[in-house]
Amino acid sequence: MSEDIRDKFANTDMENQIGVLQKSMYHMISFHILKTENDFLDRIAETHNHSHYDIKLEYYDHWLESLIATVKETDPLFDSEVELAWRITFSSGILYMKMHYDP
Ligand code: HEM
Repeated sequence: MSEDIRDKFANTDMENQIGVLQKSMYHMISFHILKTENDFLDRIAETHNHSHYDIKLEYYDHWLESLIATVKETDPLFDSEVELAWRITFSSGILYMKMHYDP
C-alpha cells in the first residue's frame, strides 16, 4: 500500500512473517473479546512504537484495509456484514497499538 511500508519489510523473512501474522490475529481477536491487556500485545506495541520500528498511526489503517481486501478476495461468503465484523473485531487491537505509538 505504500513505499514506506515496503521499506520497513526490506529485510524481513516473509515466510516467517506468515506465522507472525497468524499468531498476531489470534491475540488481536482475544484482546477484542477479553478487553484486557495481554503480554503479547504489550510487547508488540513496544516494538512498533515511535522509538523502535516507528510504525506510524496511518499504517494501521493501511493494515486494516489490506486485511479487508484479502478477506474480500478469499471469502466466497463476503458481504457487508462480514466486512463489518472484521472491522469491529480488529479495531480494538489497532487502537491499542496506536495508543502506545508515542512512549
Ligand atoms: C495491529 C497490527 C499489528 C500486529 C498485531 C503486528 C504484530 C507483529 C509481530 C508479532 C511481529 C514480530 C515480533 C516483533 O518484531 O516485534 C511484527 C513485526 C513487524 N511488524 Fe508488525 N504488527 C502489526 C502491524 C504492523 C504494521 C501496520 C506495520 C507496518 C509497517 C508493521 C511492521 C512490522 C515490521 C517492520 C516488523 C519486523 C519484521 C522483521 O522481523 O523484519 N506491523 N509485527
